Amino acid sequence: MTAKAELHYDGRTLELPVIEGSEKERAIDISALRKELGLITLDPGYVNTGSCRSAITFIDGEKGILRYRGYPIEQLAERSSFLEVAWLLLHGELPTTAELQSFKEDIRLHTMLHEDVKRFFGAFPKKAHPMAICAAVIGALSTFYQNFLDPNDEGQSNLSTHRLLAKVPTIAAYAFKHSIGQPFLYPRNDLDYASNFLHLMFATPCEEYEIDPVVAKALDLLLILHADHEQNCSTSTVRLVGSSQVNLFAAISSGVAALWGPLHGGANQAVIEMLQQIESEGLDGKRFLESCKDKDDTRRLMGFGHRVYKNFDPRAKIIKKACFEVLDRLGTKNKMLDIAVELEEVALQDDYFISRKLYPNVDFYSGIIYQAIGIPVNMFTVMFVLGRLPGWISQWKEMQGDASKRIGRPRQVYTGATERSYVPIDERG
Ligand code: ACO
Repeated sequence: MTAKAELHYDGRTLELPVIEGSEKERAIDISALRKELGLITLDPGYVNTGSCRSAITFIDGEKGILRYRGYPIEQLAERSSFLEVAWLLLHGELPTTAELQSFKEDIRLHTMLHEDVKRFFGAFPKKAHPMAICAAVIGALSTFYQNFLDPNDEGQSNLSTHRLLAKVPTIAAYAFKHSIGQPFLYPRNDLDYASNFLHLMFATPCEEYEIDPVVAKALDLLLILHADHEQNCSTSTVRLVGSSQVNLFAAISSGVAALWGPLHGGANQAVIEMLQQIESEGLDGKRFLESCKDKDDTRRLMGFGHRVYKNFDPRAKIIKKACFEVLDRLGTKNKMLDIAVELEEVALQDDYFISRKLYPNVDFYSGIIYQAIGIPVNMFTVMFVLGRLPGWISQWKEMQGDASKRIGRPRQVYTGATERSYVPIDERG
């Protein structure tokens, strides 16, 4: 029997069905609310609003649990690879050997950019943020694949999926190469996904880049950890934009724009800038934390806090461990790591952070690894794009296949002027 919630309003009672998910989380279905009672709900920031049913990613923010398609993130981080995880997200099951092989092959076939796409990069200022370049070039891919833009055609969507997974690393690396004035390299299809990206980033036509397997593995791990995170800001953006039936390239481009902000994917850049500032100005960690708590100061402890996790972000735990391993294996000392560890220790004992359940999130340590492997700071959020891509596409695909899909169109509570008459300019006081 379906559970019901009752809403009493203006002498009337409305029974609202209570939906239960596979992990027993419950939601009140309010879809009849406006029709029956003339009411809408108001939920700034969508803190209590479920926008869809989804079978892709499960998070229990209270317990610090993250699973893709039922598989704990810890197991995937330990045993899987990014492309296997991408397949899992897209298809719902782990691939067979043959499926994984053919998926990798499909992606390899598309790693090059059209030569005309390459010309776009030269038009961007050298100091352009690579997130802006990525959003623009990904959106522009739709101009090159005009016969593959129908979101309701599975064949076209699959091909666009392969193209995106294959080309976004190339686009990302070219954004970097452009910023430093180096020539663009062609992808190396003999390399695995992460290694090819490192080659595109760091090799030159005259100097091959020696790929360190430790670095490639760390990069692959980071991509896995970022691969999906249910209905966050950028994913909801991809779904909302996609709900208008626009093509996949446009929807993903909007996701990149949403991810750029410092409260979302941009936080990894903000964290390292914060750590650099503490180091260069010789700030005291405890004093710095005080400023993050001060309501008159806009500063926050970047990389801390999360809308959903009110416990440790499980990804942060894995990244912290990987951070030590990578720095150890590379034999690099990193002052940022010492500062981050100190800040974390102090914050976790501070009543302000304890009472608000603020813990390190995925961004707190990821930038330190990126920095150790030579990724420039303004490329950190682009690394997040590479990781999140299969999640965005999976969520978009799930929405397209949902029989109940409708264009996303929130309502509002209007608080502006009531009707008034136009006053000609010379009659205005
Ligand atoms: N430093 C200091 N105080 C914080 C922090 C922080 N990092 N995060 C939250 N708070 C405080 C807020 O000031 C607020 O305090 P109050 O109740 O006294 O007013 C309380 O904790 C709740 O914070 P909200 O902003 O209401 O929480 P919300 O869920 O809206 O925001 C967010 C979550 C944006 C992640 C926030 O914690 C934050 O700004 N963190 C820093 C930026 C960051 O690391 N973002 C990455 C998130 S993960 C990702 O997108 C991949």
